Amino acid sequence: MSAQPLVIAVPKGRIQEELAPMFRKVGINPEDAFFDDAERQLQFACKDSNISLIRVRSFDVPTFVAFGAAHIGIAGSDVLMEFDYQDLYAPLNLDIGHCRLSVAQPEDLKDTDLSQLSHLRVATKYPNITRKYFAELGIQAECIKLNGAMELAPKLGLARHIVDLVSSGKTLKANGLREVKTIADISSRLIVNRAAFKTRSAEIGGIIERFRQLLEKGA
Ligand code: PRP
Repeated sequence: MSAQPLVIAVPKGRIQEELAPMFRKVGINPEDAFFDDAERQLQFACKDSNISLIRVRSFDVPTFVAFGAAHIGIAGSDVLMEFDYQDLYAPLNLDIGHCRLSVAQPEDLKDTDLSQLSHLRVATKYPNITRKYFAELGIQAECIKLNGAMELAPKLGLARHIVDLVSSGKTLKANGLREVKTIADISSRLIVNRAAFKTRSAEIGGIIERFRQLLEKGA
């Protein structure tokens, strides 16, 4: 075993709840602080293994892994689609973090047939996916990049449409919006730095295998 810990990047937020039991079942046992949301620490040791977990923003997980700062990561397929890093290998769909990436518009806007438009303005965290999706429909999307609270944009006249993640649909409803198109179904993937997979193949391959077996059993 190499002396340097194997670094796994984990996204902050909702996904942690679904990830914690999976980690336990594959033998990744973080120190207690990892489960404390109030904790300001960003890197966590694991009991009985040479693994270190880092907690980062979901959009930053592929960056840490692509540049080799982390060897492995847990990333949403939305983020992977948006950045399209070539240095990553995504061997497993972890079947957690299910949601949709969707187009939404004000509830009172009658016309839901976007194909009639030639141009539209969209507030989103996903400008690349959004431009590509609308370009394929022959629509030029002018994207206004926001990092959160997209749902405010239509009400305040920033953009009539938004592209964002939808899970229960409560956030859209609470902000007078409705989903009009699903761009993609989203779930979380295990991602690996390609170079690290070559240099530490036994350790990384072992972890992939443990997750694979867990998924085969139906988690
Ligand atoms: C996501 C997303 C929506 C919301 C949708 O944000 O950006 O705002 O969840 O979930 P719902 O359909 O169940 O209401 P999240 O709460 O993850 O926070 P973020 O804005 O920091 O991404």
